Amino acid sequence: MPACCSSIQGEIMQRTRTVAILAAVAAAFALGSAQAQVKIGLILPMTGQQASTGKQISAAARLYMQQHGDTVAGKKIELIVKDDGAVPDNTKRIAQELIVNDKVNFIAGFGVTPAALAAAPLATQSKVPLIVMAAGTSIITERSPYIARTSFTLAQSSTIVADWAAKDGIKKVVTLVSDYAPGADAQKSFTEAFAKAGGQVLAELKVPLAAPDFAPFLQRARDASPDAIFIFVPSGQGGTFMKQYAERGLDKAGIRVIGPGDVTDDDLLPNMGDAVLGTVTVHHYSAAHPSPMNKAFVAAFENANKFRPNFMAVGGYDGMHLIYEALKKTSGGTDGDALIGAMKGMKWESPRGPMSIDPETRDVIHNEYVRKVEKVGGQLYNVEFATFEAVKDPVKAQKK
Ligand code: PHB
Repeated sequence: MPACCSSIQGEIMQRTRTVAILAAVAAAFALGSAQAQVKIGLILPMTGQQASTGKQISAAARLYMQQHGDTVAGKKIELIVKDDGAVPDNTKRIAQELIVNDKVNFIAGFGVTPAALAAAPLATQSKVPLIVMAAGTSIITERSPYIARTSFTLAQSSTIVADWAAKDGIKKVVTLVSDYAPGADAQKSFTEAFAKAGGQVLAELKVPLAAPDFAPFLQRARDASPDAIFIFVPSGQGGTFMKQYAERGLDKAGIRVIGPGDVTDDDLLPNMGDAVLGTVTVHHYSAAHPSPMNKAFVAAFENANKFRPNFMAVGGYDGMHLIYEALKKTSGGTDGDALIGAMKGMKWESPRGPMSIDPETRDVIHNEYVRKVEKVGGQLYNVEFATFEAVKDPVKAQKK
């Protein structure tokens, strides 16, 4: 080949190579901008006994993203939902995979206390913020400085149940709780506050968490002839409890049901039957909360999912809000210390009412409402009739 032609050919090849490299760089950029820049690993019980919690929280997180977009402070958000079946060993393994392999910027969800406790050390090691959207034992937030909570604590509602019950003329109570950490918190908080208010606890009963049969415990409660039975069961078990309470005739014997609102959870309440009418509980959320914001939330949630949101859904919705607002404050920065710092003291209007994150404890502060089960438009609802404002976790407040 003559010298002229070989040099032209060489130049063409060189240019072709340059164009190919430029195209590859452009493609890589295009891919980069379509890829998530902030990842949220949502670890929830999507199967097993606590599956209603997973269903509620994942639906609420998706609704939040639909309503607020999937880009915050210029960063594209990706939600990765993983099922731990509420088994703490699974939670730990999944959290580790999400942090190490997927490089998530937040781990969130946690349907039960043992799941949140299993993941807490990983948050500390990795400095990845952990947002508790469901679990309710007081100690959880003390297990890592990278934990913030948008759910609730059992102590917040149980102490107020005690005061209300004493004022309402209830003098003798049998307590019955699920035999694990939040049950112990509920029982202790209620018993201490009820004794201070002049009431008497006749017996403290504990029912197994897995597949509970309430009948023998209800019989013991009935034999003690209390004015009321104080009950805590985790979300998803209230239907079985109320059925067995009615079957054993405790309603007819005039023994009232009182407790935190988990037992008359909005997910199951519509199918609980009339034995539940008149049940008074204390909780931070009711689907019947009469604010314009909650009405819009319930309508959008029911429209998207064809079922009613419960207190777990609102914990998930508010958890997403906390993440979005923290990212806005850090201008999209994902440093764990900066994000947790941004969450401390944050205040907002939630479907539950006004709420904030305690700047000292990173725990939730919200109103507790006293509610009674009534029929509204032919359907069972927890109708709020009294409000205790800005309630902090009493267990942490007592330690000060
Ligand atoms: C918990 O395990 O902390 C828990 C789960 C469900 C509830 C309340 C507490 O309804």
